[in-house]
Amino acid sequence: MRYQSQQVAWLFFAGAMVLFLAQVLFGVLAGLIYVYPNFLSELLPFNIIRMIHTNALIVWLLLGFFGGTYYLLPEETERELFSVRLAQLQFWIFFLAAAAAVVGYLLGIHEGREFLEQPTWVKVAITISVLLFLFNVSMTLFKGRKTATAQVLLLGLWGAAIFFLFAFYNPSNLVLDKLYWWWVVHIWVEGVWELIMAGILAFLLIKVTGVDREVIEKWLYVIVGLSLFTGLLGTGHHYYWIGAPGYWQWVGSIFSAVEIVPFFAMVLWAFYLVYQGRRDHPNKAALLWCLGCPTVAFFGAGVWGFMHTLSPINYYTHGTQVTAAHGHLAFYGAYVMLNLAIITYAMPNLRGLQPFNQVLNMWSFWLMTSAMAFMTFTLTFAGVVQTHLQRVMGMSYMEVQDQLTLFYWMRLGAGVFVVVGAILFIYAVYGPVREQLTVQEAQAQPAE
Ligand code: HEM
Ligand code: HEM
Ligand SMILES: [Fe+2]
Repeated sequence: MRYQSQQVAWLFFAGAMVLFLAQVLFGVLAGLIYVYPNFLSELLPFNIIRMIHTNALIVWLLLGFFGGTYYLLPEETERELFSVRLAQLQFWIFFLAAAAAVVGYLLGIHEGREFLEQPTWVKVAITISVLLFLFNVSMTLFKGRKTATAQVLLLGLWGAAIFFLFAFYNPSNLVLDKLYWWWVVHIWVEGVWELIMAGILAFLLIKVTGVDREVIEKWLYVIVGLSLFTGLLGTGHHYYWIGAPGYWQWVGSIFSAVEIVPFFAMVLWAFYLVYQGRRDHPNKAALLWCLGCPTVAFFGAGVWGFMHTLSPINYYTHGTQVTAAHGHLAFYGAYVMLNLAIITYAMPNLRGLQPFNQVLNMWSFWLMTSAMAFMTFTLTFAGVVQTHLQRVMGMSYMEVQDQLTLFYWMRLGAGVFVVVGAILFIYAVYGPVREQLTVQEAQAQPAE
């Protein structure tokens, strides 16, 4: 670690990991209710558990993005962060607002609208925290070296904040409500967050491969252009059946089909650079996450997204388990793995150690990733059976659910392994380190 202010990232990563664990545990609870429908029904109903599962996910991913940005920005801009105090303040506002939202959910206080259930005052607190964050990082960039990597990352973060503002607009007309709801939900993950992903990956690839920045950043422009070109109009794949004009069938199908291209470009980018790389970076686990992230994102978002994105297909699959299969693998590959990559890379530096517990970390990679893949397969099979029985044969919803029990058991099993993988990851990164040189000791060793 070269800059003192980078240390503040530690706080954000720790907060993220606490919520990550909560997220996957609530996922398992939700999965349990799928096979024991009355489990907890009096105490903690399924809709609340689901809300905590999805909200904790979004919040910890954002905390990870904030931490990652605070970590990499000093190295990119070649100066300390504008203000560490402000960063700490921003963390606590955000973390406490999220915690208050969860307590509220447990008491049954929420405002509906999937993913955006937070009470308005929590949304206001989140907005204030994000504005403090953006001010802090923009001032840092403003005063320092302006690399393409940092600029793309900040563009993505600003975009995320701007589109979040549509969460405050909730028209009573249901068509308009849904139309704008997707401006947050879709444009985040298939637009502005993709820029965050590309920016953080660019930083990591520069570090772990040692390839020239110029080469890496040339790709970055192409990826950013493709993401925005396809992702914005690709929103149309959510406008098929909500009462929007018919031309969205065409616009949504065509543009969202092309959304695969930036995800595929990121796979080529990462593998090409690692192949070209001259440097034998000691953090092998970070390298693994850097390659895994775009690969699984390509399958989860690209392949599993394409599977149901054309309107004649979506007509049958809309809102079935096919959607849940895609939602899980896409979020996991693109954004969970991205955060685990930057955390794996940054934590040894933040702890002042050489890369440590690498084998354990890589075990958590394979365990978690295989379990998420298995969960995706079971949900995909469930979704295909569901689509056929319900939408083609016309069986009733609950009758069909009875036919899917086996798949739900397998999803639960996979979920337990995801939790084990998550615990393993947290232990590998935060746990004790045996016989590990500190950076100073390693430097004092004579070269071999
Ligand atoms: C990392 C990027 C992505 C993430 C995190 C993601 C996540 C999600 C989630 C969570 C949903 C469910 C939303 C809901 O109804 O509550 C969804 C729906 C959908 N996604 Fe994605 N997605 C991504 C990229 C893509 C891409 C690239 C495509 C197309 C190629 C795509 C196609 C779709 C479609 C068509 C739906 C609607 C499914 C339905 O009608 O029920 N997604 N996505
Ligand atoms: C890091 C890993 C995970 C991610 C990124 C993730 C993400 C998500 C997302 C985006 C949704 C909303 C899906 C949609 O609207 O289509 C969801 C719902 C759900 N997740 Fe997860 N999840 C993860 C882990 C788990 C685990 C370990 C389980 C345990 C079995 C689980 C079980 C569920 C269940 C049961 C739902 C509700 C589905 C429904 O409403 O029918 N998830 N998750
Ligand atoms: Fe979408």
